[in-house]
Amino acid sequence: MAGRPFLQIPGPALVPERVARAMSQSLIDHRGPEFARLLKEVLDGLKNVFQTTGGEIVLYPGSGTGAWEASLVNTLSPGDRVLGCVNGHFSDRFCQTASAHGMEVETLEVPYGVGVPADLVEERLRADRNREIKAVLALHSETSTGVVSDIAAIRRAMDRADHPALLLVDTVSSLATTDFRLDAWKVDVALTGPQKGLMLPPGMAILAVSQKALKAGRSAKCPRFFWDWAPVLERNASGEFPYTPATALLFGLKESLAMLAEEGLPNVFLRHNRMAEACRRAVLAMGLKLLVKNPSECSSTLTAVCMPDGFDSDAYLAHAHSRLDISLGPGLGKVKGKIFRIGHLGSFNELELLGALAGVEMTLKSFGVNIPLGAGLAAAESYLLQSASNSGQGL
Ligand SMILES: Cc1ncc(COP(=O)(O)O)c(C=O)c1O
Repeated sequence: MAGRPFLQIPGPALVPERVARAMSQSLIDHRGPEFARLLKEVLDGLKNVFQTTGGEIVLYPGSGTGAWEASLVNTLSPGDRVLGCVNGHFSDRFCQTASAHGMEVETLEVPYGVGVPADLVEERLRADRNREIKAVLALHSETSTGVVSDIAAIRRAMDRADHPALLLVDTVSSLATTDFRLDAWKVDVALTGPQKGLMLPPGMAILAVSQKALKAGRSAKCPRFFWDWAPVLERNASGEFPYTPATALLFGLKESLAMLAEEGLPNVFLRHNRMAEACRRAVLAMGLKLLVKNPSECSSTLTAVCMPDGFDSDAYLAHAHSRLDISLGPGLGKVKGKIFRIGHLGSFNELELLGALAGVEMTLKSFGVNIPLGAGLAAAESYLLQSASNSGQGL
């Protein structure tokens, strides 16, 4: 098909030209002084994005799944009890990772489309009189449903319960799209991947680690070698890695961190908010329903849309892809076939959003869903126009 494909899944997103060009430069010696400078710049830039001065960054070649594993094996021991907040497919898999390492996972099950209720976390922790729970696992943005949980409120709940558990937070689909504060929210490990807000291709596991987590790591008994953060931190201090690093991705990361710094994090969050709000208004104007009902819990990264009764969302996505070369995210886990997800993240602007929404309208219509053509686009356009003067962005 002529023209560019519309990759509107909730990550990976299209890689900006600047980042792609940075990654294509000649490799450098990963034990030389140029690499040491690159690494320092990248680690400092990531600290800014995680909003930490007291924490450490640990990077591995890998993926978000590897980052789950790294966060767990470095801080916990087999047999440890953890409280896993499950409100979707990815939070479930984070808990499965803990179970695979012999941890006792007590789950706090929340319906799909709802954020983790901090008061229930507090209740569970208060009931844990012997302080057996060693960590609370939660996702900031549950990518399978488009829900954001209030991590600051979970931290306050933990403090109210006066519980010493570590707080391990997945920020795979929130970092660099949504305000996240490692230090202010006293998160012990925040983990992410490069393929969403950081605008890179997949291929890395990234952790931001508090001093409390580093201390816990010294007595954690989970077997580990590749994921052991101690040798990574030790070698990073002299500008190296204990293995061959993903140098090309680090070139790209340096560039994407520069792009985020130029735009300014508050503006990055605002831009994502605007795109998300415009997208939600468009979906509602099409006469469709959002999976997330509470507006304050809607992710700025993606929007999950309920497929009307009688239609299968997997079949719709195949139709949309073959008809207009647009890729949307499928329903995962309990909502398979019932929802589809529109990603609006990374280096992404108003016209790209409108193109994606036009694609959604046209393909829903040709799939047989009875929607008023153009209504969604009109709603998004008028919101973008009206919010532009307030935000200083766009038109
Ligand atoms: C919130 C969240 N956590 C973890 C993962 C797993 O990451 P990966 O597929 O890079 O292993 C994903 C993947 O999309 C995700 O969205």
